[in-house]
Parts: sequence; C-alpha cells; structure tokens
Amino acid sequence: MVRDSRAAAFAALALVAGVWAASTAFVAPGPRASPLAGRVQSAVVLQSGSGEYTGFVPDMQRRVLMNLIVVAVCAVPALVVLGGQVCPTPLNGKRGPADFFPKLGGGGGGASPVGDINGAAVPLKKWVAGHKDNDRELVQGLKGDAYYLISTPDGIKDFAINATCTHLGCVVPWVRSANKFCCPCHGSQYDENGKVVRGPAPLSLALAHTSVLEDGNIAVSPWPEQKAMEEGQQKNVADALAEVVVAAAAEREADLDAEIARLDNLKEDDLEELRRKRLEQMKKSHFDRRSKLAVGHGEYTLIDEKDFFTVAKQSEYIVCHFWRPSTWRCEVMDKHLRQLCQKHWGTRFVKVDAEKSQFLSERLHIWCLPSLVLCKQGKTDHTIVGFSEFQRGDEATTEDVEQLLGKWGVIALED
Ligand code: FES
Repeated sequence: MVRDSRAAAFAALALVAGVWAASTAFVAPGPRASPLAGRVQSAVVLQSGSGEYTGFVPDMQRRVLMNLIVVAVCAVPALVVLGGQVCPTPLNGKRGPADFFPKLGGGGGGASPVGDINGAAVPLKKWVAGHKDNDRELVQGLKGDAYYLISTPDGIKDFAINATCTHLGCVVPWVRSANKFCCPCHGSQYDENGKVVRGPAPLSLALAHTSVLEDGNIAVSPWPEQKAMEEGQQKNVADALAEVVVAAAAEREADLDAEIARLDNLKEDDLEELRRKRLEQMKKSHFDRRSKLAVGHGEYTLIDEKDFFTVAKQSEYIVCHFWRPSTWRCEVMDKHLRQLCQKHWGTRFVKVDAEKSQFLSERLHIWCLPSLVLCKQGKTDHTIVGFSEFQRGDEATTEDVEQLLGKWGVIALED
C-alpha cells in the first residue's frame, strides 16, 4: 500500500515536470521588461552592432517537434502509473498496472511461488488435475533450486524436497520402482521423504514448506527446523561414536586384566611347561635354519639349468631369477634379491643365465629379462615378467620387491 502511494506521488511529480519542461523547452530569449534583466541578457547574448539578435534560434517547426518529444517521454510512464491507481484492472481482477512495481514477498512467511519448466506459476488446481496420488515432479523452488512437489489424493504434501544431492550437488532423480531417490553420480540413495539411506551423501535432502497463495498458486518457503534436526542428528552420531570407543576400550582392558590374572595364577609346573615348549620351538627353528643354510638358503647363487630341478626338490619355496649379465635391469633385480635372500632364509634365491639355459628358458616360457620364476612345493607357481607388476617399474625399491614376493606367497611377510 505504501509502495502504491509512493508510486502515485512519483507519477504526479513526473507529469508536472514534463509539462513545465514542455512549456519552456527551446524557447528563444524574448524581450525583457526589467532593466536589470536586460543587463544580464546583454552579458550572454550576442548582438550585432545594429541591435539585431544573432545567437542560436531554432525555427518554429523544430521547436514544436522537440516539445512534443519531451511531453511524450514524460507523460507515457506517468500516465501508466496513474492509470494503475485510478482504475483497477481487468488483468486479474484485483490489481492494475501498478504491478509494474515489484511486489514484496510472495506470501506469508517468505513463501515464493514455484515455477514450472518455463518459470510460469503452478496453480494448485492444475497440479491436482495433472497428477495422481504420490506423484513427484520437479519445479523451480527457493533460489531457483529444483524441488520435488509430492501430490496427495486432493492436493500436495505440506513439504517439498530439494533435488540437490548433498554429496556433490547432482540433481537426484526419483525412481518410482525402487520408491527412492537414487543419485546416478556416486550411488547415494534417499527414501521417499528425502532421508538419506545410503552414502556417500552425508545428509538428507533439504526440505521446504509448501503453501497455496491467495491467487491459488503453489509456493514454497524455507524449512529452518531441518537444520536444527540435522545438527541434533550429528550430535547423536558423535555421542554414539564416543560410546563405542569407550566400550571397546573397556573390553580391551578386561582382556588385559584376564591375561594378567591368568599369569598370576600360573603354578610353578605351568611355568616349567611353558619354558620347555619355548625351548623346543627355538631348537626346532635353529635346526631348520641350519639345514636350509646347508643347501644354499640365505645366499643368492648362480646355478646351471641342469641343477634347477634338484634345487626345486630340495626347497619348498624358490625365487629363480632368469638373468643376463649384459642387461642392466637384471643388475637392478640382482641388487634387490641379494638383500632379500638373507632376511628370508626360508626361501631359496637363485639365478640362471638365460642365454646359457635355452632348454629351461623355453620350457618355462621366458621371453623377457629379467623374469622371476616363483616355485612352491616343487611346482612353478607364477612368473613375474620384467618389472611389469611394480607400480614404479624398474625404479621399484627392495621393499616393493619384498611386498610382491610376499603377495605371491613365496616369502613370509611380518605382520
Ligand atoms: S553427487 Fe550424488 S552421490 Fe555423489
């Protein structure tokens, strides 16, 4: 209302200004009655020696034309505004051209009318006629975001769902067959009310209140409760996490207490038994190591192809490097295996000169040097061709080689 009155005042002012401008525009200076005015005039107006005026005087036709233009420019907007005040109009039966002024707000509580795909308002009647119960369709909602309106048997639900995925912002389609919103980008899913049921989306879809404006169009307004609810949910998650951590710590503590109690209660006989078992284990390991070292474990040796099968029978796990002295990448592999053979004495590390071992190379299908043939229990299990299995290629470190051999199970990796 205040805005309308202001507009009327502004229009009246513009009209008066236009009339005044029209009455004075392009009028040549006329004779002045006052002697003072005459003196001022003589200071600015050029006159010939004979007293005749010689300044710029447009001809009468041009003056009339210019006056008309000025009047038209001022009068048209003023009349439009005034017309809107004087006669309410037939456009919608309620408001006139004063609608040229932007309206404040779109309804109670900051509601904004939603728009269809072309941005046109969506009347509730039209919506109900075009949708079945539980339909969902996208409209333009708050800040131009895409929102789903949800239909009920006789209208719409009192909330709309923002279609922007809370993971990385894709528009989430409604999948009727699954009764869910399923984001195609990274697989997040939301239930029929927008609640997140599968990640990676961290939050549920945003909501907005829906309402129907006086003119019958559907509108949406912000939903501040949702933020408060999500903050509450985050707090609950943090609390639950803290509870789990405390419970795990308590369980671990209980295990330790039980172990201490068991050791405290050990009798002398039990301790003796433990000592005996440990000693036996150490003896066995020592014997095992000695017998393996005796057949070449703990070293990295060059063998003839004819010895390969003997070696394969003697040792449970073998790493056999097919090598050639003139190939620098074979030298790189040599360096790594030389270091690993001592640490992993349970496995036999050998190398074979591929150029002098035609038979074996053909039999084991060696076509690239270096190649590592891995044997387990007398059988070839896998061949690592060149450095193809290393992420860093021939720049692989000794640790990388160790990890790969461990992965193929020919050496035991520490936990
Ligand atoms: S953007 Fe939706 S799951 Fe990533």
